Amino acid sequence: MTDHRFGGDWTADKLERVRKYLKAYMTIFSGNERARKLTPIYVDAFAGTGYRTPASDPPPDKPLFPELEEPETKAFLKGSARIALEVEPPFKRYLFIERDPERAKELEKLVNEFRGRVQFKERNIEVVEAEANEYLIQWCRQNNWQSSRAVVFLDPYGMQVSWDLIEALGQTRAVDLWLLFPLGMAVNRLLTRNQPPTGPWANALTRMFGTNDWSSFSVCSQRCATVRSIRFRS
Ligand SMILES: C[S@@+](CC[C@H](N)C(=O)[O-])C[C@H]1O[C@@H](n2cnc3c(N)ncnc32)[C@H](O)[C@@H]1O
Repeated sequence: MTDHRFGGDWTADKLERVRKYLKAYMTIFSGNERARKLTPIYVDAFAGTGYRTPASDPPPDKPLFPELEEPETKAFLKGSARIALEVEPPFKRYLFIERDPERAKELEKLVNEFRGRVQFKERNIEVVEAEANEYLIQWCRQNNWQSSRAVVFLDPYGMQVSWDLIEALGQTRAVDLWLLFPLGMAVNRLLTRNQPPTGPWANALTRMFGTNDWSSFSVCSQRCATVRSIRFRS
């Protein structure tokens, strides 16, 4: 299996929250007469492999005593795709998007495991190897939102989600969106008090916010910093 290293304790917490949400969503969906007529879809646009290894773990090695491996340990290492597929009752459709070919292959293996199960008989599970923004914007335009609803989980490493995608999702008026926003990891590091970023970093911020207004905010935060330092000195 391809080793996919990311996150830490907070990742487990995040995924547990998503799991609870998906479970509640599907419980409500299947219990409500009007909702039951609609097709519930789960979309994971930065899907990974379905598994994860905490970034802090030592490199993979064969366990010394594999028979002593706790099942709980494996549960802790489930990624969002696997967690979503295990939700009961299952969604009617699943769309997993992953740009990395090796990871997409790994996902396909995981999905095949579920496709054979009885409760997935009338369900559709798709794995698409593609760039998430481009693919999903088109998908939002083409999907029939009269007859479906979706939970969309966007869990990128950094600033890969473009504002165009957020707009396209909003225009459906039928999507519950989970977005991991890279505030500490990326935005705070770029919007420093010294100099607004330029070049590719500036472009990445503009793409993510859908405007370059952030540059005046950056200047404003520099001014605020100056005011604060004057106050501290007086
Ligand atoms: C943080 S990981 C996702 C982890 C996953 N949610 C889980 O819990 O297992 C981000 C994934 O997004 C993929 N990725 C990065 N940029 C992408 C893009 N523009 N389009 C599609 N996938 C992308 C990476 O290859 C990586 O597998």
